[in-house]
Amino acid sequence: MTKKKFAIVGTGGRHQMFREAVAQTHAESAELVALCDVNQSRLALSANKVPHRGGNGIATYLAEDFDRMLTEQDPDTVIVTTPDYLHDEYIVRALKAGRNVMTEKPMTIDVARLKRILDAQRESGKSVTVTFNYRYSPARTQLKEILMNGVIGEITAIDFRWYLDRVHGADYFRRWHRYKDKSGGLLVHKSTHHFDLLNWWAGSTPKSISATGKRDFYTPEMAIKLGLEGHGPRCHACPVAHKCDFYMDLETDEPLKELYLDAENDDGYWRDKCVFADDITIEDTMQVQAQYASGVSLNYTLVAYSPWEGLEVKFHGTKGELTHKHIEVHGVFAGGHRERGGDEAVEAMSTELHLAGGLPQKLDVWTGKGSHGGADPIMLGYLFDPQNMEADKYGRASDQVAGAWSILTGIAANQSIARNGERIFVDAMLAEAGITL
Ligand SMILES: NC(=O)c1ccc[n+]([C@@H]2O[C@H](COP(=O)([O-])OP(=O)(O)OC[C@H]3O[C@@H](n4cnc5c(N)ncnc54)[C@H](O)[C@@H]3O)[C@@H](O)[C@H]2O)c1
Repeated sequence: MTKKKFAIVGTGGRHQMFREAVAQTHAESAELVALCDVNQSRLALSANKVPHRGGNGIATYLAEDFDRMLTEQDPDTVIVTTPDYLHDEYIVRALKAGRNVMTEKPMTIDVARLKRILDAQRESGKSVTVTFNYRYSPARTQLKEILMNGVIGEITAIDFRWYLDRVHGADYFRRWHRYKDKSGGLLVHKSTHHFDLLNWWAGSTPKSISATGKRDFYTPEMAIKLGLEGHGPRCHACPVAHKCDFYMDLETDEPLKELYLDAENDDGYWRDKCVFADDITIEDTMQVQAQYASGVSLNYTLVAYSPWEGLEVKFHGTKGELTHKHIEVHGVFAGGHRERGGDEAVEAMSTELHLAGGLPQKLDVWTGKGSHGGADPIMLGYLFDPQNMEADKYGRASDQVAGAWSILTGIAANQSIARNGERIFVDAMLAEAGITL
């Protein structure tokens, strides 16, 4: 079998999953040919972790040599795992060079960048896959199964709430995510997962959106309320670290240390900026109301400083209700670091079906093994070894169109927030940007 060749751009926390999938788990059908990043230390670290492959190992390229990498290493597919605001740049360059693309979510962060991606995809005819791992989590696939079989009749309305705890939620306030022009804010960066799930579950696309958003917790005022006056610009060497619950110790967490602290002289990237700084431009408390083309209406909440982490979703249908709750456990990405409180943290899922006229029924929740509730290994199988996977009756693969719909709710919500909650119509927003989906 001819192996498909892959190159990865952006060798930070998230790329590790893709590197291992290509170079190790699926090495029979896939081959890693090159790595690319602005940071020489992270590049070398990553290349050294690929099991010995003879010769000179994996080729590494600085970002300025991305195009040369494509010519010299000839990958079939480029995997994009850079910060969000750079996705479009690499997606477009890879497509124009005749390569397929797999990109991390969000596909991009605004409509101008979205148009560039859609145009380049159309012109090149190459594929863009957005790696929405959440769709592959068995418990969420089970919801799709129930909904697509019409068990609760037609879906009329959805209540969806996602809570980020003070480990995972805080982590979005430490580095590039905390700037709206780099991540689109949490309504794009994080909610792209949720809006993608909602679009897929409901089998529809968003039509109009209004939203509120504010930053109430990760603020300079909160630092004072918590007795953290005199804090430094980052956790490392912060004078009040000993009394801060949000202290991230890069020195003692070896994976984080080698990936970020030991690499920061190359590019000045601080992984542990203070979460109470005044230059943060994203919200931590967001609520969205949306109408879908199918008539479904949605109430959505995202909070980034909750005492627990997880989701609650309720689907209202013409025949009954379907409710799912997932209490998740999370650490700091790339660090494998457990939340404070130690190992007793609980992960629990429940799904309840309540048909009109009957009693509520607890369902056995589908489960799986591996990261993101068992989602990642299934998705990686479909991405890197599709011939050995069964045909996907749930339609979980996502292309640039699903990628686009998943960010449009958040982009429209950002506009609505900027305009005091005004209702934003997605078709008008697309028409103004010259986008047809
Ligand atoms: N699906 C998921 O569950 C999931 C989880 C984590 C991250 N992600 C996504 O993965 C992506 C990367 O996130 P991360 O946590 O690894 O971030 P990160 O900051 O750890 O890594 C980003 C890497 O990109 C590099 N980079 C920065 N500028 C660059 C440039 N101009 N050219 C090339 N490389 C450049 C950085 O040096 C760094 O190595 C993001 O889009 C994020 O949304 C997805």
